[in-house]
Amino acid sequence: MAEQYIESAVTDPETAEHLSRIAAVRDRLKAAGRVGDAAPKYFIQTFGCQQNEADSERLAGLCAAMGYVKTDRPEDAELILVNTCAVREHAEKKALSIIGNYKHIKDKNPAAVIGVGGCMVTQKARADKLKGSYPYVSFTFDTGAVDRVPALLDAALAGGRREFVLSEEWKIAEGIPIRRASKHMAWLSIMYGCNNFCSYCIVPYVRGRERSRSAEAILDEARALIDDGARDITLLGQNVNSYDGGPYDGRRVDIADLLHRISALEGDFRLRFMTSHPKDASDRLIEAMATEDKVVKHFHLPVQAGSDEILRRMNRKYTAEKYLETAEKIRAAVPDVSLTSDIIVGFPGETEEDFEATLAMMRVARYDMVYSFIYSPRAGTPAAAMPDQVPREVASARMERLLALGAEIADERNARFLGRTLRVLVEDVSKNEPDKLTARGDPVRPIHFAGPPSLIGQFVHVRITEAKTYCLEGEVVE
Ligand code: 5AD
Ligand code: SF4
Repeated sequence: MAEQYIESAVTDPETAEHLSRIAAVRDRLKAAGRVGDAAPKYFIQTFGCQQNEADSERLAGLCAAMGYVKTDRPEDAELILVNTCAVREHAEKKALSIIGNYKHIKDKNPAAVIGVGGCMVTQKARADKLKGSYPYVSFTFDTGAVDRVPALLDAALAGGRREFVLSEEWKIAEGIPIRRASKHMAWLSIMYGCNNFCSYCIVPYVRGRERSRSAEAILDEARALIDDGARDITLLGQNVNSYDGGPYDGRRVDIADLLHRISALEGDFRLRFMTSHPKDASDRLIEAMATEDKVVKHFHLPVQAGSDEILRRMNRKYTAEKYLETAEKIRAAVPDVSLTSDIIVGFPGETEEDFEATLAMMRVARYDMVYSFIYSPRAGTPAAAMPDQVPREVASARMERLLALGAEIADERNARFLGRTLRVLVEDVSKNEPDKLTARGDPVRPIHFAGPPSLIGQFVHVRITEAKTYCLEGEVVE
C-alpha cells in the first residue's frame, strides 16, 4: 500500500524553486492528455542502504506529484529512476549492468526518460562514465539533488541537453513529497552525511558532511506519520549518535532527547534508530533505550573489526576493549537487548591473528546478527592506497569462518525467545509461505505465524514456538 504524505513546510527558497518545477511537468502531461488512465508510469530501482530507500520514497513522492503512476515493470515505464549505491564495488557493478539493460527499453520507446541518482553518480568519474558510455541516460543527480529531479525531467521532456548534476554543497531539502513504501513502517531521516571518514568508506565523500534536521521538523513528521498509521518508525542517519538538532524548548536536542520526545507523542507505535557509531554511543542514549517502552530493544553497533591495529587503521577511534565496555553498558541497562554489528573481512594488512581477534570479539559480544562484508577498495579513500591488500581467496575463506561462527551465536541468541509471548507488528503476508504472516518486534529475525491478512498493520501477541536460522515461528495468542 502506498501513502502520500508531505514532509514539512518548505523553508529554503532554492528547494522551493526546484519543487515549483513539479507543476511544469504536470502541466506538460496535462497538455498532452496524459492524465487519469492515460497517465505515464514511473519505475524506481533502488540499491543500497535504508538511506537510499528513504531517498527513493522521496523520488516516488516527486513522481506521483508530477502526475506519474507507479509500475513494478520497467518495460512499462516512461520514467525510470535508478538510485545507486557506491559502498562496495559489487553494488556499482550491479547498477551499471541494470542501467545497461535499460537500453532495450529506450530502444523500444524513445520517449522513455532514464535518470540515475544516488551515491554512485555523486562521484564525478562515475557521472562522466554515464555521460560518455550510456547515451540513453538523460540525466544524473547526486545525493544532494533529489529536489532537482522535476527540473531535470522537465528539461528532458522538452528535448533539452543531458544534465549531470554534482552539487557544490549539500543542504537539507525540506518539503519534498514522500510516497512511502509501507503505511505501517516508516523511515524518518533525522540527519544526513557523515564526518567520520573511516578509512575504507566512501560515504563521507558521496553524502557530504553531517547535517541534522531540526527537532521541530522531525517531531512534526513523526506526529504526521503516527496520525497516518505508522506503527514502526526508524530514525535514520549515518551516525545518529552525533545528531545535533540545535536548541528546542530552550536546550540542545540530541538523539536521546529525540527518542524521549517522540516516545511522548500520543499513539501506539515503536521507535528504532540506526546507525550508531560506538565512539559516540552515549550513556544518555543507552538510558533512553532502557527507559522508553516504545524504543525497540535493538542496538545496531557496528564494530567492523576486533583487532586494535586494524581498528586504528580503519580510523574507528576506539579499541576492542572500549567497544566491549560500551556493549557491556548496553547489556547492563537493557538486559534483553538484541545487539547487531557490521564487520569487514580482509581489510588491508589483516593478518590471521587480526582476523582471529574479530572472531574473539564476536564470541564476547554475542551478536544477534552480523552483517559481514568482504573489504572492497573504494577509489579516493585512504584504505584503497594501503599496502598489503588481502587476496580475494584469503578474504573469502575468512568470510566463511565468520559466517559459520555468526550463525552459531545468532542461533543461540535467538533460542532465548522460545516459549516467550512477544508483542509484534504484523508487516505483511510472508513472501515464502503465502498462508503465513510476517511480523517484527524486538528480535532481529522476522517472526512468521498463521493468521489472516486483516491483521496487517496491527500489533498482536505471538508465542514463539520455533527458532529457525532466518526466522522465528510462532502462533497468535488471544
Ligand atoms: N568495503 C566493505 N564494506 C564496507 N562497508 C563500508 N565501506 C566498505 C568497503 N569499502 C560496510 C561497513 C559499513 C556497512 C554499511 O558497509 O561495515 O558499516
Ligand atoms: Fe562510513 Fe564510518 Fe561514516 Fe559509517 S561512520 S558512514 S562507516 S565513514
